Amino acid sequence: MNNFHAPVLLKEVTEFLKIKKQEKYIDATLGGGGHAQAILNLGGIVLGIDVDQDALDYVRKNQESRIKNKELTLAKGNFRDIEEIAHLNSFEKVSGILFDLGISSHQIDTPERGFSFLKEGPLDMRMDKDLGVTAETLVNVLTKGELYDLFNKLGQEHRAFAISGNIVRARRVKAVQTTSELARIIEQAYGIRGDASDFTKNVVNKRVFQALRMAVNTELENIEQALPKAIYLLKGKARIVVISFHSLEDGIVKRTFKDFEKKNMGKIITEKPVSVTKEELKKNSRAASAKLRVFEKN
Ligand SMILES: C[S@@+](CC[C@H](N)C(=O)[O-])C[C@H]1O[C@@H](n2cnc3c(N)ncnc32)[C@H](O)[C@@H]1O
Repeated sequence: MNNFHAPVLLKEVTEFLKIKKQEKYIDATLGGGGHAQAILNLGGIVLGIDVDQDALDYVRKNQESRIKNKELTLAKGNFRDIEEIAHLNSFEKVSGILFDLGISSHQIDTPERGFSFLKEGPLDMRMDKDLGVTAETLVNVLTKGELYDLFNKLGQEHRAFAISGNIVRARRVKAVQTTSELARIIEQAYGIRGDASDFTKNVVNKRVFQALRMAVNTELENIEQALPKAIYLLKGKARIVVISFHSLEDGIVKRTFKDFEKKNMGKIITEKPVSVTKEELKKNSRAASAKLRVFEKN
């Protein structure tokens, strides 16, 4: 099923979740279903959640028989509502929950979704097409100061000041509507020309694009809200596994798990986050910044 997305830290996820036959698991970020499939192959029963209808459609097509046999249930929704989604699908008291944060390769590789600065497309970046606000809205409506804060905080972008100034100047003439229009504005702030290599374009554009994506999809708020709900869905000795790709996200996971421990709700299994092996990195460069953390409920 992996043209859609190559699952990261697959072996580590199934080992940490200690999959048992006929027990229930929630995959809160289904994507192309790679992790879900591994759990199913080990005999687990899975509720797969995603905000992106493309992901659900893809997995539905590939896992028809498992859905029919009720081994796999699919739900469209935001994992920050994990409690309600779990109750609606009779997945209370589960044996493990996985959050594999960020976006799928399918999302980044589909130009019309607007996630990639290397592909011409509308400035969209919504994982959930039902959301009202797109990246285009933010780029054209936020004030210069708000854009600066966004790029500085979520993107840790050191040229945030120049880029936000360039955006405000450009949109006085014409709204910024496409990925390449935005990329050109960012590249100008770096003195880069349009014929620069993809490597250079990646270096200069990735932080602003990531910041916009995180803001459009309220990614930090989602995980912050989801973890305290997820812990209540776990059986005793069951685990939450989170894979994050951004230091602010990883910081939320780390702090929340520490807080759970302080409240005697269980113990942190990974004192330090687990990263991908060199072998996995060779096969999948997108896994480079992955950090996996695990918490076990009492
Ligand atoms: C990195 S991919 C998951 C890949 C998946 N583990 C696999 O093996 O293919 C992340 C997925 O989570 C979804 N997602 C991101 N934030 C979400 C949220 N708040 N609620 C539900 N799904 C979310 C995205 O739409 C995307 O499909």
